[in-house]
Amino acid sequence: MKVCFATNNKNKLREIREILGDQFEVLGLEDIGCIADLPEESETLEENSRSKAKYVYDHFGISVFADDTGLEVDALNGAPGVYSARYAGPACDSEDNMARLLREMEGRENRTARFRTVITLILEGAEKQFEGIAEGIIIHEKKGPGGFGYDPVFRPVGKEVTFAEMPPNEKNAISHRGKAMKKLVDYLKKLEE
Ligand code: IMP
Repeated sequence: MKVCFATNNKNKLREIREILGDQFEVLGLEDIGCIADLPEESETLEENSRSKAKYVYDHFGISVFADDTGLEVDALNGAPGVYSARYAGPACDSEDNMARLLREMEGRENRTARFRTVITLILEGAEKQFEGIAEGIIIHEKKGPGGFGYDPVFRPVGKEVTFAEMPPNEKNAISHRGKAMKKLVDYLKKLEE
């Protein structure tokens, strides 16, 4: 079965190809000739992942899944949430985003937060969504060299280290995206049985 993962992120593509194995041919956006910026202007992860998947399905007629992730901090009423990638401004990077987050969290006692990933799958026109959540806290200063995004300031529940201090396989086993991907993979593999 051929399915497009609506991303240009080579790491995400490699990871899902490894998990799904030979039964599925996973194509990236580049592979299907999609060079447009996919629409993600909505206010929820659900709508954003759906609009990206729908764009590909409508324009390329191929079965597709798309993911969207946000960091939801309770003391900030769920911010940065769907705006996680551009929290410190449109031209900012992860360092700027973490700096803003740590600034906003100064003096706050409640530091609970979660990463949430939503994947929308459109398979021959039928839609289904999968969610993965990793609960944790925002620590007071960055720790760890690995990962990306907000990993150095996020310590998952039950662990002594941040996502940035874990090897990739340890993070993937408990991460929001890992959990959502597992649900997607279980669903796709069942279809092939
Ligand atoms: P995306 O939807 O996967 O592009 O994620 C949106 C933004 O959320 C990214 O630009 C990162 O800032 C943040 N993010 C997503 N996943 C992670 C993660 O696993 N660790 C840290 N930050 C993440």
